Amino acid sequence: MFKSKIAGIGMYVPANVVTNQDLLKYMDTSDEWIQERTGIKERRFAHRTEETTTTLGVEASKIAIERAGITPQDIDFVVFATLSPDYYFPGCGVLLQRAMKMKEIGALDVRNQCSGFVYALSVADQFIKTGMYKNILVVGAEKHSFGLDFSTRGRNVSVIFGDGAGAVVLQAATQENQGILSTHLHSDGESAEILAMYNPGTHANHWSTEKLADFNDAEIGDMFFSHAMVDKAQVYPNMDGPAVFKKAVVKFPEVIMEALQANQLTTSDINVLIPHQANLRIAQFVQQKLQLRDDQVYNNIQQYGNTTAASVPIALCEAWEKGLIKEGDLVCLAAFGSGFTWASALLRW
Ligand code: UT7
Repeated sequence: MFKSKIAGIGMYVPANVVTNQDLLKYMDTSDEWIQERTGIKERRFAHRTEETTTTLGVEASKIAIERAGITPQDIDFVVFATLSPDYYFPGCGVLLQRAMKMKEIGALDVRNQCSGFVYALSVADQFIKTGMYKNILVVGAEKHSFGLDFSTRGRNVSVIFGDGAGAVVLQAATQENQGILSTHLHSDGESAEILAMYNPGTHANHWSTEKLADFNDAEIGDMFFSHAMVDKAQVYPNMDGPAVFKKAVVKFPEVIMEALQANQLTTSDINVLIPHQANLRIAQFVQQKLQLRDDQVYNNIQQYGNTTAASVPIALCEAWEKGLIKEGDLVCLAAFGSGFTWASALLRW
């Protein structure tokens, strides 16, 4: 069985830089609060009408495909991870397939939020290993700036997120001991509601003792999307930040250690850890817990904020472009987020 390797990688972030100071126009917050609690200095916001989650993904994909030395027509499967799709359905995978004029290949969307890219990579890895596909495009992209509450009410969520995309082309490795060594996927739906966007949806307040949506009971259609939901701002992401933080700092180290142990490796073998860029404080906690040196961990949340499914491929791409990842290096990808879901992947570059 072949291992799969990253044959090309690309990233794209919108040109528009939004600083912490810029957010003060919309809400009661401060540069000091944001930097102290999250490490974020600025993020990028997509063009309101000319850029979508899919077009961000396309830009990153063009670079990844070119670097792999192939064309969009050579791609034989697409896996697209996002929580901010252009449409409720169909998914971004088919929109990307259309925009890039690919063949009538399979296009799969993954909805695992912050863990989305690592989940997507794991899915693609299985298809390469079995020989079913030769060139798989794996994309993580988000246009968060369209779906956040930028009033003071939503500040605990909206200051964190940014827009962007990353993509990789996965192919069968040509050398022994190169490529993805293993992937590890987990979930615990017990706390699904503490980091979630409930509406529009079909839940009809079924899962929670709390009322997650307001609707007129006169018309069943209103239960999906109603004026009351909009009026009461029930159409934005919800997050119990401290609860997410507490779980993240346990699950990140756990899933990284799981990957290392599965390959009889230790933390000192890691050349570069790319943690999902959720919060610089979480990444620092994980670094400390695993006793990793500064040069073993790559963070760029300071510049881009939390780009959810895009954060791992953006950080991976940037680290590689800076020459921080070299052939033969051991790279660990790890993510944790809404669901909860968490995941890791260990790669020999
Ligand atoms: O990638 C997806 C997964 N998500 C995460 O991993 C997020 C994990 N959680 C976090 O990163 C942190 O919990 C946050 C950065 C979201 C929040 O930091 P925190 O230190 O946990 O703050 P908090 O939610 O406990 O709020 C502390 C105070 C509150 O005021 P009071 O009640 O103490 O008066 C908030 O109202 O900070 C207030 N606050 C803000 N103040 C200024 C919340 N957001 C803001 C803000 N600006 N943007």
